Amino acid sequence: TVLQHSLTLLLVLCVIPYTDAQTEKEFIKKHIRPLLNCNETMKEINGRGNCKYINTFILDEISNVRQVCMGDKFHHNNSQCYQSRKKFNIIECKVLNSSSPSCIYNRVNANKPIKITCDESNKPVHFGC
Ligand SMILES: *[C@@H]1O[C@H](CO)[C@@H](O)[C@H](O)[C@H]1NC(C)=O
Ligand SMILES: *[C@@H]1O[C@H](CO)[C@@H](O)[C@H](O)[C@H]1NC(C)=O
Ligand SMILES: *[C@@H]1O[C@H](CO)[C@@H](O)[C@H](O)[C@H]1NC(C)=O
Repeated sequence: TVLQHSLTLLLVLCVIPYTDAQTEKEFIKKHIRPLLNCNETMKEINGRGNCKYINTFILDEISNVRQVCMGDKFHHNNSQCYQSRKKFNIIECKVLNSSSPSCIYNRVNANKPIKITCDESNKPVHFGC
């Protein structure tokens, strides 16, 4: 029925903004950047009306991140989970005030190993596992 179709569409529209990267292309858009400004870059990540609580950016080349998918698997039930041996320069953008309509972010710099989920063809598709 039309009602069921509209409900399905509504559900799909509600769910899409909250799913994380599923392809390497999306992973790159969400997690690979040169130096960035959290407030500005997160606008791009969030799209309209969303305010993602936290997003991590890796300040490195995608080729170096792909290397992690060739390396050590992290001992975890998710068999596609990899932890890097080397440390990466990362930036975490965390919401400062989620009730602010403009979605203001705080920035935390870190240099540490990363955990990523890789697909069957050893491409990174998700930050974290
Ligand atoms: C992970 O695997 C272990 C051993 O197979 C199992 O006991 C445990 O319940 C699993 N944990 C989750 C979260 O699936
Ligand atoms: C958060 O943002 C809301 C809406 O703009 C504002 O009223 C509130 O004072 C802010 N809180 C803090 C702790 O800045
Ligand atoms: C984001 O903008 C707010 C308000 O203009 C500012 O206080 C904050 O420092 C900015 N965050 C970053 C990471 O630059």
